[in-house]
Amino acid sequence: MGTVGILGGTGPAGQGVAIRLASAGYDVVLGSRDAERAAGVAAGLVPRGAGSVSGSGNDAAAACDVVVVATPWDSAVATVKAVGEALAGKVVISMVNALAREGRELIPLYPPRGSMAAQIAFALPRSSVVGAFHHLPASEMVDLDSDLDADVVIFGDVAGARDQVAEMVEAMPGLHAVIAGSMSLASAVEAFTAVCISINIRHKAHSYVRLAGLAH
Ligand SMILES: NC(=O)c1ccc[n+]([C@@H]2O[C@H](COP(=O)([O-])OP(=O)(O)OC[C@H]3O[C@@H](n4cnc5c(N)ncnc54)[C@H](OP(=O)(O)O)[C@@H]3O)[C@@H](O)[C@H]2O)c1
Repeated sequence: MGTVGILGGTGPAGQGVAIRLASAGYDVVLGSRDAERAAGVAAGLVPRGAGSVSGSGNDAAAACDVVVVATPWDSAVATVKAVGEALAGKVVISMVNALAREGRELIPLYPPRGSMAAQIAFALPRSSVVGAFHHLPASEMVDLDSDLDADVVIFGDVAGARDQVAEMVEAMPGLHAVIAGSMSLASAVEAFTAVCISINIRHKAHSYVRLAGLAH
């Protein structure tokens, strides 16, 4: 089914995506600034399916067929630029949200190009950048026994790349792909994550997005 690399894959978000991709049959490389640390984190993830999770440096993750960006927002652009050559010609998935905590709320931050996906697309002019996975709580993603049944809102300017990501998402247990449209939706999708997390803090929950009225 191909390989997927995750830049910053050692964090909760990357681990959650990795275990569900591997359960769908993909061979996943958790990328890190510290390959040894990534190998240790990968060893703790046990997917259910034909795929695998290994750990390595961010450069090895960037060499995979498809690459997910899962670093904190303020290091995402520098991280992708450092492996920009390896990412040329590939589908790059941004799950990055620019958020700041204020008391019991998260508030969205707006980077100069309006969204982190647009910042990453600008930094990678030879890649097809697609946004996905923004609203998924890592705690539910990493637990294959959770009854996760979430919609994944997908956007980007390259239709073929969006379709490829939708196919990956549909194969992942507990997730449904919903293609929303172009990169112009990125700031709204990313900002809505602040609403989701603020709701979760207020209601002591791990809720996720499930859109009504769609046929799955
Ligand atoms: N957590 C969630 O539930 C969730 C859900 C959806 C989307 N997201 C988004 O996914 C991204 C990652 O979230 P997270 O909670 O997993 O974050 P995190 O744990 O803070 O960071 C993820 C990984 O990024 C690497 N990293 C940290 N600082 C870095 C730097 N200055 N330069 C390069 N790499 C750095 C670290 O890996 P190494 O130290 O191993 O290099 C770290 O393990 C965020 O943008 C977040 O908004 C999170």
